Amino acid sequence: MSRIAYVNGRYLPHRRAAVHVEDRGYQFADGVYEVIAVRGGGLVDEEPHLDRLDRSLAELRIAPPMGRGALKVILREVMRRNLVRDGMIYLQVSRGVAPRDHSFPARARPALVVTARHKQPPAGAAVEQGVGVVTVEDIRWKRCDIKSVSLLPNVLAKQDALDAGAFDAWMVGADGRITEGSASNAWIITKGREVITRPPSQEILDGVTRRAVKALARQEGLSYVERAFSVAEAKSATEAFLTSTSARILPVTRIDDVRLGDGKPGPLTRKLLRLYADYERRAERAAAE
Ligand code: PDD
Repeated sequence: MSRIAYVNGRYLPHRRAAVHVEDRGYQFADGVYEVIAVRGGGLVDEEPHLDRLDRSLAELRIAPPMGRGALKVILREVMRRNLVRDGMIYLQVSRGVAPRDHSFPARARPALVVTARHKQPPAGAAVEQGVGVVTVEDIRWKRCDIKSVSLLPNVLAKQDALDAGAFDAWMVGADGRITEGSASNAWIITKGREVITRPPSQEILDGVTRRAVKALARQEGLSYVERAFSVAEAKSATEAFLTSTSARILPVTRIDDVRLGDGKPGPLTRKLLRLYADYERRAERAAAE
């Protein structure tokens, strides 16, 4: 089956789907995006993702390309045309097409691209054994709360991680504290069983998965603490994990050359994994009703 992409009002074969060379997303990274998981044919946390899209657009003063109802119809149509029941929906909005000039164009209409792909959530070795991360300097701008398509520092960080034989990079801010992963939020669990992640600020993306895990941790009566933590503290943690739409909850068992705990995913991480899997199943059922 050939893949179909939505590009500015048209459903096109994926291999022919293209944006204009003067699209400002291409010229200036002047755009934002969202990634939403599809599980069992339903979208997980659709509303919070679309709320965050609206927020990112508003922060950059890009008009929404259409109302939420119409956008939801397109998301479902792209899922349907690609027969995606487990995978990812990607949507990107740029400020539109205009002759290259840094200032905002007077008349450009925002451009919308939506694609979908099959992808099973990570399973097997990565979840069973955990993954390694390396720490790298956070060289990003000061508005990491906006889900901008300007991802070059994230791309470089991820490649550094892969080159070092790790799964991801945890970025370290000027204050020596970990901000987040290249495309995920960072968490540690201390000996005192505190589940710690950085509070939302302009230094990180407020992950939708992060918010769900926070709610689950609280419901479960775990000691949830929002604060920044240093690299040294992370390396002395008993457990760690990362969260994102595509990775869900992925145990982290190594930071640089330091093995955490006994080198295997710890009990609290595994508990949160189970709770999150139930949470996704509830989202699936709700979508089916
Ligand atoms: N990444 N931090 C960054 C820098 C991210 O790019 C992401 C998401 C997250 C986690 O956010 P959420 O839980 O809402 O997915 C945190 C997506 C999945 C991506 O770029 O593919």
